[in-house]
Amino acid sequence: MNKSHQEILVEVNNLKMYFPVRRGIFRRKVGEVKAVDDIDFTIMRNEILGLVGESGCGKTTTGRCISRLYKPTSGSIFLEGTEISAMSEKQLKPIRRSIGIVFQNPYTSMPPGQRVGNIIGNPLITYHLTDGTEYKDRIAELLHSVGLDPAMANRTLTELSPGQRQRVAIARTLAPQPSLVICDDPVSGMDVSVQAQLINLLDELQESLGLTCLFLTRDLAMGQYISDRVAVMYSGRIVELATSRELCENPLHPYTRALISATPVPDPVLESKRHYTVLPGEAPDPVTPPTGCHFHPRCPIAVGECHEERPPLREVGVDHYVACIKA
Ligand SMILES: Nc1ncnc2c1ncn2[C@@H]1O[C@H](COP(=O)(O)OP(=O)(O)O)[C@@H](O)[C@H]1O
Ligand SMILES: [Mg+2]
Repeated sequence: MNKSHQEILVEVNNLKMYFPVRRGIFRRKVGEVKAVDDIDFTIMRNEILGLVGESGCGKTTTGRCISRLYKPTSGSIFLEGTEISAMSEKQLKPIRRSIGIVFQNPYTSMPPGQRVGNIIGNPLITYHLTDGTEYKDRIAELLHSVGLDPAMANRTLTELSPGQRQRVAIARTLAPQPSLVICDDPVSGMDVSVQAQLINLLDELQESLGLTCLFLTRDLAMGQYISDRVAVMYSGRIVELATSRELCENPLHPYTRALISATPVPDPVLESKRHYTVLPGEAPDPVTPPTGCHFHPRCPIAVGECHEERPPLREVGVDHYVACIKA
């Protein structure tokens, strides 16, 4: 779809989130963890945007800034045209309902002993979205929308399978009809078949409810499968952003290429020909990231300039951006 015809739901500009590192008995600040280091992106209404990268690259921190669980160090975040990055807790109150989060672990993010109906119904009461008469119907409807039997409202989380628990988490998130849902690695650690079912559920919900979603994952293939566009993140920065298809067919950043090369393909012939690039070294420490391009110490095509200058995220094709001077 042509981007110019779509409406921007979220716009993130120059977002930074630095955490102080404190030492000693006086808890003096001795440095900063640059968890998110100046990123820009937009999320269109009714789009799933994937944010993909290794553990520690800054995905969760980005999600927590956008949902304003964190107040960013700097930068701006617009939600439906309203700047929310510097809002106070009081100002955020009417906004809270608009952003939902599905966490990685449904067991620690919801009270395990509580009944499913109460878990899903809670946000309806908190946000005064029910007059009482249709409360039960609304819960049944929400359970139905995530593929669960409405009779499950009387069960507790402990009685459910991991996949069912995550469905409950999705239903709870959807209850206040948020305009943005942030899914933080929602299926990692689950059986592959359960993962597939949940991913397909999100896909269906995007269609049926016009869901807009920021999907955080370490799994590039999954990110590409579920998302309309994918942003690849490395060491607190976005290194490449493109439509899923374009990223699959024409990856340009050396880090994206390395990630793709590390992903097994189901076709045995193709799989035997797959050229696996092993990146030397480890992901950088966000307290002391490399100068210039954060990826340069591990990059197979780095030149002198990469040590000095941060490459801008530049447009190289329709809806395709890359932060590499050599790409
Ligand atoms: N509250 C915090 N205080 C200090 N450092 C943090 C905090 N949260 C995350 N970090 C650090 O920021 C970096 C990015 O973390 P995170 O956003 O959780 O990455 P991801 O979700 O991609 O695995 C990591 O180095 C992590 O250790
Ligand atoms: Mg995370």
